[in-house]
Amino acid sequence: MGLSRFAFGFFAAAVLVAPVSVFAATKGDPAAGEKMYTECEGCHSLKDNKLGPRHCGLIGRKAGSVSDYPSYSHAMRESGLTWDVKTLSDFLAEPFSYLPETGMGYIGIFDQQSRLDLIAYLDKQGKDPSVCPPQ
Ligand code: HEC
Repeated sequence: MGLSRFAFGFFAAAVLVAPVSVFAATKGDPAAGEKMYTECEGCHSLKDNKLGPRHCGLIGRKAGSVSDYPSYSHAMRESGLTWDVKTLSDFLAEPFSYLPETGMGYIGIFDQQSRLDLIAYLDKQGKDPSVCPPQ
């Protein structure tokens, strides 16, 4: 009896948690993402290449394809990735696990919601022509 009650409780908890994480997987808050972006600004900006490639136009772009950024790793150029919510979230979680030879010296963002917020911010800025003029 004790066990089946535990099993039921576990099952019920799993059912309750599942829709929440599906929701989280689609929702990011760009205002929170703007704060997260300070983590990136040592090496990136939206408009200009710095140590890392510029981020305007990132969503929907092939990895390693900013033509005037000179320092892509072989791994990035040959990754075959296209940047969308899923690939960005996976890469930013653990850059060195996702793309072991990447030249991006950044440890990653452990928290999924923070990654989604950041991606929402990048997406929003990319669609704002006053920030990211169409190329
Ligand atoms: C220490 C410097 C540094 C930091 C901090 C950093 N990056 Fe990078 N980033 C790079 C470099 C260098 C590359 C090029 C890597 C390569 O070619 O393997 C890169 C590449 C990327 C790419 C691939 C872009 C493309 O054109 O294919 C993305 C996406 C990215 N960074 C996002 C971020 C985000 C978001 C943050 C903040 C959470 C961040 N980076 C923090 C240095 C950094």
